[in-house]
Amino acid sequence: MSLNHTDFKMFLDEVTKIVDADGDRDEKLQKICDLLRDRVSFYDWVGFYIVDPEEKILHLGPFAGEPTEHVKIPFGQGVCGQVARDEVPMIVQDVSRESNYLSCSPLVRSEIVVPVFKEGRSVAQIDVDSHEPAAFSTRDRAFLMKVCESVSHLF
Ligand code: SME
Repeated sequence: MSLNHTDFKMFLDEVTKIVDADGDRDEKLQKICDLLRDRVSFYDWVGFYIVDPEEKILHLGPFAGEPTEHVKIPFGQGVCGQVARDEVPMIVQDVSRESNYLSCSPLVRSEIVVPVFKEGRSVAQIDVDSHEPAAFSTRDRAFLMKVCESVSHLF
């Protein structure tokens, strides 16, 4: 698994086009979720969580995949909450071995979460779940960091 170099570049170009096009932020985030989930075979759930810095809570934004019960996640809880608290990307190769994990579906085997930064602070994050074990590599992390860099223009 892991994205290859050609796909990486192609998807990034498409993400940039979506960000630069007309439409509101949620429409654009939704298109990015749909693009990545539809076209990357092992990205089974793709969503954005939006940071509320005062309440220290994440709110579920646009997503593609099965609905999740985790629509509000306090900082520190689960993989997403840890990323919100620590402001560093996280790759979990085997979710069954992560004690601080919030399950959305029993089918999920691995997960990656990458923050979106605006003026040095995390304002949102992209969360990708895979049904494949150890699906994500540093290449996916590099790719999603670029996606987040592009998305930061929407905040
Ligand atoms: N697994 C995440 C919760 C969000 S769902 O994957 C959509 C976590 O542990 O924070």
